[in-house]
Amino acid sequence: MFKGTLITIEGIDGAGKSVLLNALAKALIKEHHPVLVTKEPGGTHLGKMLKKVLLEEEQACDPRVEYLLFAADRAEHFQKLVIPALMRGDIVISDRMADSAVAYQGYGQGIDPHLIQTVNHFAMHGIKPDITLYLRISPHEARMRFMKRQEAQDHSTMERKGEEFWERVAHGYEQLSINSNRIHAINATASPEAVFAAAYTIVTTFLRTKRL
Ligand code: TMP
Repeated sequence: MFKGTLITIEGIDGAGKSVLLNALAKALIKEHHPVLVTKEPGGTHLGKMLKKVLLEEEQACDPRVEYLLFAADRAEHFQKLVIPALMRGDIVISDRMADSAVAYQGYGQGIDPHLIQTVNHFAMHGIKPDITLYLRISPHEARMRFMKRQEAQDHSTMERKGEEFWERVAHGYEQLSINSNRIHAINATASPEAVFAAAYTIVTTFLRTKRL
């Protein structure tokens, strides 16, 4: 339907999404592909305001409210950024999207994953990512990374939500990846170079097939 390609990068906090996103965008731009780098939550002006409420409020939101705010961010993101870029023919690379909602609000917070899929479909105008790069890492290993890098704020977010929450989110991602050909699991405990190489092969193979 669109000329462009939608790539999402997913995984639990600490999986190394931003490092991969930057490396991938750099490589594709070097090959003269038009690339739009974006993220959820917070890819748009409204998204930035929603993100402030979602991630910076002292008081945790009710999971339903939290989910609906993420969904509103997603709808705005699609309307304002993702759809126009796909129509232009860009390669859109988004740090998180719909699968985060299934993993975090569905598996993590207990909201019915089918309901989430339905609302995601609505917010995304029925568009699905072409490729999802899922960075697979256990919550234990992610926590160790934060501690090693002494990212006190990220580490405390992990502690606050509790070990079981992260286990449920990681399980959610595993379930999603088992049930979808779109989602490619990559070993995120490998070196950044190896993670990039795996992702790059997946993306360029897809782009080559799309051109045929
Ligand atoms: P980040 O901007 O540091 O990636 O933080 C985003 C956080 O929001 C991360 O902990 C995952 C969470 N999140 C959800 O819980 N549901 C969602 O739908 C999205 C997009 C993110």
